[in-house]
Amino acid sequence: MTDTEFIKVQQFVKGKIGVDLSQKRSLIEGRLEPHLARKGFHDFTEYMNYIKNDISGTEVEEMLSILTTHHTYFWREPVHFELYRNEVLPYLKRTEAISKDLRIWSAAASTGEEPYTLAMLNLDFFGFEHEMWDTKILATDVSTKVLEFAQRGIYSEEQVDALPGQWKRLYFQKNGDGRYEAKSSLKNEVLFRQFNLMNPLPFRKPLHVVFIRNVMIYFEEETKRRLLERIVNAMVPGGYLFVGTTESVDRDALGLDYVIPSVYRKK
Ligand SMILES: C[S@@+](CC[C@H](N)C(=O)[O-])C[C@H]1O[C@@H](n2cnc3c(N)ncnc32)[C@H](O)[C@@H]1O
Repeated sequence: MTDTEFIKVQQFVKGKIGVDLSQKRSLIEGRLEPHLARKGFHDFTEYMNYIKNDISGTEVEEMLSILTTHHTYFWREPVHFELYRNEVLPYLKRTEAISKDLRIWSAAASTGEEPYTLAMLNLDFFGFEHEMWDTKILATDVSTKVLEFAQRGIYSEEQVDALPGQWKRLYFQKNGDGRYEAKSSLKNEVLFRQFNLMNPLPFRKPLHVVFIRNVMIYFEEETKRRLLERIVNAMVPGGYLFVGTTESVDRDALGLDYVIPSVYRKK
């Protein structure tokens, strides 16, 4: 890949989804070169010309999927889920007792482990009262590939290993091949939709909880700042914002109160 081709690829990706690959030349080469060879492109110039004229968006989508990190797992960053169970859900049960409508967004859901974990916590917490509540989680990602995986909801034994045995029994069925498939009672609790975080947020009603974890690390400071402003704007006062445990936010500028590291509430 020439210097010019490298700049073209990384600027294209940043323009589309905000992900900054300016320091990731070897990642681009390592992941895209085999893809180019498979698809019969001779070089990056030919490939980028194709990408720019890809009206269907299929090749663009594939490229972005190859270049982004989708790594996730059940019960990741347990401190968040413990706080969600012990503080957020009891608070929302009290404050939303009349509407019984919770608006929870998993904003970079990848293959579904994060929103399914939240959905299991909701089902567990509300128990028999659950059917009186709307606790459906909106789970979005820019990649339709990971969303298709998430919607199928089939995970290996290793992937569900971190979940309590009771959850595995209640919310998953073991398929013939030994893999675990989310039961429809769990699948129905999560609504998967494609959404690019660079676009205007689509919410008509303000959100109670936002999980935006381990995606903003790939954005430039300014992109992250503007996105967080839009997210906080779309939340109810008192709403909870969860970012990855290694991520930081400017809570004063955003009008957030600190709860624990990486968890905030809108003032
Ligand atoms: C590392 S995963 C994070 C999964 C989960 N939130 C977690 O913490 O385990 C990051 C996800 O962000 C998605 N992503 C990257 N840029 C995005 C954008 N502009 N809009 C929406 N999703 C994006 C990727 O497709 C990827 O699935």
